[in-house]
Amino acid sequence: MFKIKQIKSTPTLIVGLIVISLGVILIYLSLSAKNVDARITLLPEDLSVTKLGKAVYMGNCASCHGVVLEGQANWQQRDSDGYMPAPPHDVSGHTWHHPSSYLFLMTKYGIEKMIGKKYPNNMPAYENELTDNEIIAVLSYIKSTWPKQIQRQHDEISAYANKN
Ligand code: HEC
Repeated sequence: MFKIKQIKSTPTLIVGLIVISLGVILIYLSLSAKNVDARITLLPEDLSVTKLGKAVYMGNCASCHGVVLEGQANWQQRDSDGYMPAPPHDVSGHTWHHPSSYLFLMTKYGIEKMIGKKYPNNMPAYENELTDNEIIAVLSYIKSTWPKQIQRQHDEISAYANKN
């Protein structure tokens, strides 16, 4: 009787262990997916990506960052309410100073979540509005408008950030 019980419980134990291991693997994968998320590659030379990106830009970003990426007037000074205006995304701004991962996280989660502290600002978070692919597309479109030399510099800034 005792023996039979033992034989029966061994498969249960094995199934239990498998379920637990799968759980651990899943948690590990979902955590590491966050890091993968940030190590994105922009595709400024892929016309199907930049075409989608331009549409996303015109529909979501142009109202503040400008139809030709020129930003808002006096973008370097706080407005009368104390907020920073939208900076340009062309080379006169500082978008290209930041690595792709930073631009992606900022667009997806907004500034406060990214820097992890309160910072009242007018840049919306697009986590619930745009898919990751749409965010990559819009940033690829922005990058495609920069001169080639700036694009190469941005490649280097992004590669350096990914290594650290
Ligand atoms: C309602 C206005 C508004 C809209 C719409 C908007 N932004 Fe912004 N964005 C801002 C403001 C304002 C800032 C600067 C915030 C600050 O520094 O206080 C900003 C900053 C940024 C930055 C950081 C730039 C840098 O050099 O630090 C990125 C990247 C950005 N926006 C991308 C986007 C993208 C992509 C879209 C469209 C999907 C978008 N924004 C739509 C207002 C807007």
